[in-house]
Amino acid sequence: MRTQVAIIGAGPAGLLLGALLHRSGIDNVVVEQRSADYVLGRIRAGVLEQVAVDLLDEAGVGARLHAEGLPHDGVNLSFGGQRHRIDLHALTGKRVVVYGQTEVTRDLMDHRRSLGRPTVYEADQVAVHGFDGDKPWVTFVKDAQVQRIDADFIAGCDGFHGVCRASVPAGAITEHEKVYPFGWLGLLADVPPVNHELIYGHTERGFMLASMRSATRSRFYLQCPLTDRVEDWSDDAFYDEFARRLPPDAAARLVRGPALEKSIAPLRSFVAEPLRFGRLFLAGDAGHIVPPTGAKGLNLAASDVGLLSRALAEFYGGSPAGIDTYSQRALARIWKAERFSWWFTQLMHRFPENGSFGERMQQAELAYLVQSESAQQAMAENYVGLPLA
Ligand code: FAD
Ligand code: PHB
Repeated sequence: MRTQVAIIGAGPAGLLLGALLHRSGIDNVVVEQRSADYVLGRIRAGVLEQVAVDLLDEAGVGARLHAEGLPHDGVNLSFGGQRHRIDLHALTGKRVVVYGQTEVTRDLMDHRRSLGRPTVYEADQVAVHGFDGDKPWVTFVKDAQVQRIDADFIAGCDGFHGVCRASVPAGAITEHEKVYPFGWLGLLADVPPVNHELIYGHTERGFMLASMRSATRSRFYLQCPLTDRVEDWSDDAFYDEFARRLPPDAAARLVRGPALEKSIAPLRSFVAEPLRFGRLFLAGDAGHIVPPTGAKGLNLAASDVGLLSRALAEFYGGSPAGIDTYSQRALARIWKAERFSWWFTQLMHRFPENGSFGERMQQAELAYLVQSESAQQAMAENYVGLPLA
């Protein structure tokens, strides 16, 4: 098989890149190691910035998002038993849209199928070759046969544990990492949200987040020790602990229902530099990770592939300028999102190792944030995110 761009990974980064390239008349093939159902079963992000909405529109997959997504004009911070609203729209003129990553992925999959563009699911032993020269290629095993795709470029959209970043020679890449000493235990259930907007809570028992997918489906998170196992958390134990961490008015509205999904995610900040190695590009979680507190991961994946699709369109239009500056331009956005996600994570979680002084500093910083218009403005601008250009 031959194509212009071989895309590794059918998560949101890979599928959105495929759709944007198709719009620019650039041929592409997506190779994914898992099944489509497995990819759709992973419950992850829920908050889209304008930049992601615009790119999904540009790709021609925004219709359901506009019909079913929930526009949010504010978010709430809770601490010391009080709730404080950050008015994103009044402070920035922008809003975010609550629409699950599962739905984004489903829309992109349906679109790709309707275009008849090829996606190889359940590809084993995916490997990338020759990207330091002009003629890279990809190999994989499908139905017990070794297959090969020759391409002009390879896009590594294969997430944090993918093969693309791992195939770069160690001396050519620098990795920056911070691992946090806790995880997020998430629960998805068909119960109404406890509030019409998200609540991020800092409590002496640890962080909590009350999010949602629709008017009838909630997504709740608890900070938990990394040593906890999902099997140790019954639904009742989850709801009991969640109710203790919610502000009282929201706790009174908590409706319990059986978990549709429950999982523990570790928290990590990570950036690989650069994001281009000859004819291989990294985009999305393959190149960087943010802790989910700032809701940036999916949005960064979208902005990376927005930049990359434009760079490749320029290349086929006759100019290499876009691909030559992709890494630098993407990394400038990424480090801003890394800073915000790290700051918001430090502010909201419990770090017993920092002692009582550390805890008092968090409380003082939270009090400052909700009293200072300029501090709220900075938070709101970061939360709603930057335009692509
Ligand atoms: P992935 O979604 O990881 O997709 C990579 C794909 O590549 C996968 O399908 C994988 O199976 C495939 N793959 C891996 N290895 C190979 C291989 N060797 N060969 C072929 N295919 C391979 N972000 C936000 O913006 N907002 C939020 O509210 C938010 N909340 C989150 C909550 C949680 C609990 C978590 C865990 C994450 C959250 N994120 C959030 C982050 C967001 O989910 C990720 O940043 C996003 O999934 C990145 O997309 P991606 O396509 O780059 O990577
Ligand atoms: C989610 O709804 O899954 C979600 C929302 C906001 C975050 C992280 C996750 O910051």
